[in-house]
Amino acid sequence: MEIITNPEAMHQWSRERFRSGKTIGLVPTMGFFHEGHLSLMRKAAEVCDLVVVSLFVNPTQFGPNEDLDRYPRNFERDMALAGQERVAAVFAPTPDLMYPDGFQTEVRVKELAHHLCGLSRPGHFTGVTTVVSKLFHIVQPDVAVFGEKDFQQLAIIRRMVKDLNIGITIIGHPIVREADGLAMSSRNANLDPAHRTAALSLSTALKLTRERVRSGIIDTTVLHRELEAHIHAHPVATIDYVSFVDCETLAAAATVNERTVLALAVKIDGKVRLIDNGFLLEPNAA
Ligand code: PAF
Repeated sequence: MEIITNPEAMHQWSRERFRSGKTIGLVPTMGFFHEGHLSLMRKAAEVCDLVVVSLFVNPTQFGPNEDLDRYPRNFERDMALAGQERVAAVFAPTPDLMYPDGFQTEVRVKELAHHLCGLSRPGHFTGVTTVVSKLFHIVQPDVAVFGEKDFQQLAIIRRMVKDLNIGITIIGHPIVREADGLAMSSRNANLDPAHRTAALSLSTALKLTRERVRSGIIDTTVLHRELEAHIHAHPVATIDYVSFVDCETLAAAATVNERTVLALAVKIDGKVRLIDNGFLLEPNAA
């Protein structure tokens, strides 16, 4: 497995592989790998000849009061984990190589960014779409694999790829969960073990809502009220949003149908912001 830090060298690497007829699958990450990331790498290996993993904690997608400094990092461990998968190269640039002096271009998906996480994290998705565009141009993959846990991010990237005629196939890969149901996330490392039950209120909220929908309650105002009570039963949990939205447009849903996704963002102990989501009706509901 090669480790490449320079964007030019990465681009060259990909061009050579392309010329010899190889397909490339990109897995964009911010590191601190867990089983969720490894499952994305395996998916990319399933559909492409070569897998490139990018590892870059992108400063432009963090707001001034967010957790950029506290974002967990462990490069050595990440390399050891990626080395056990079929990964051909890791692209791990530094911020100054990605954003050299004079950098001033942004890629912005307008409307989809004005929902859910975009409301409490202004500028976040512009940071994401700009860096993902750069990664696409540098690595030139045939396929890119993203986790469905970042459901809004995936919807926005799909929109960007469509709008800008980017010839890359985007694959969304299902959420990987801990045995107790907590969606895997690098940020889970910052959770105080005493707050685990509160953190589980997101996955139990999804389970509870699916049961309520199955029993015939599809009015999202009613379901919303119940969910607030469920999450606020944990004093350390603060709701950022509990939203019932269309899976593609992210427009709010008044009643639940097959396209409705329940999306949740909850802050635990004012410090660790967790997200989770899922479809509520068969055949999409897990
Ligand atoms: O999902 C992430 O880890 C990041 O938002 C991404 C896509 C790697 C862009 O920095």
